[in-house]
Amino acid sequence: MQGPLQNLEQWDEFIQQRYDPNRKTTEFRDYANTTPGVREFYRLNHTHQTRDFVLQKQKEYAPLNKRKMGIWEALEYLNTLVDDSDPDTDLSQIEHNLQTAEAIRRDGHPDWFQLAGLVHDLGKVMCLWGEPQWAVVGDTFPTGCAYSDKIVFHEFFAANPDAANPMYKTRTGIYEQGGGLDQVDMSWGHDEYFYHVAKPYLPEPALYMVRYHSFYPAHREGAYDFLMNDRDREGFKWVKAFNPYDLYSKSAAKPDAKDLRPYYQGLIDKYFPSQVAF
Ligand SMILES: [Fe+2]
Repeated sequence: MQGPLQNLEQWDEFIQQRYDPNRKTTEFRDYANTTPGVREFYRLNHTHQTRDFVLQKQKEYAPLNKRKMGIWEALEYLNTLVDDSDPDTDLSQIEHNLQTAEAIRRDGHPDWFQLAGLVHDLGKVMCLWGEPQWAVVGDTFPTGCAYSDKIVFHEFFAANPDAANPMYKTRTGIYEQGGGLDQVDMSWGHDEYFYHVAKPYLPEPALYMVRYHSFYPAHREGAYDFLMNDRDREGFKWVKAFNPYDLYSKSAAKPDAKDLRPYYQGLIDKYFPSQVAF
């Protein structure tokens, strides 16, 4: 896999530590002990996620002509992602996603909420098509306007050419204040990609969860409120409701994919066609 992370979970683990409810507030902005791989990952992400890059990826992926597959098939395909995780102690991608969905189900949330838990990371299949880690995972943020200092490792944006571009370096940049996030070109990653895939099929709250679950600068740090409209603020209630399941439902207990499949296949069939364009 192309990139400095040993596996994609290293980024997830870094976020879990960052938002650990037991973490002392004085430590919140202290990333001195971050592993070199994670730092390097953010350096690459912040340096290369320019608006031009994002537009290029939108053009490449939005036609959804990479592959046709069923949703469960896509989960299994994502599972073939070869990384350095330990097969004995670490959970596979499919198990991670099932844990998230099962935690949502246990709390009695609607079926589309559970389904969002199952599929929200499917965009990570881009890693199988040669995309570097920094274009697949990472906290997401708007491009085309100033990079907020609420974004983790903000200092790495100094190397991003957009940070010095007069068109992009102002607070609102090319966007209209309060014009809504739909007009905003978010940094490219698995969230935005799978949003395009799922858009015709999932209800709006689930689409918000899919599209913005890694937008930590907004849903955890309160940044970029000035770009949002009322619809976004409504949608972000769902993004915030989803986030604890994404962050804290991962445990060592292995869910049994074989046992759980009939239930989740039922949910998949209710919302998605048997073949989905990726
Ligand atoms: Fe994710």
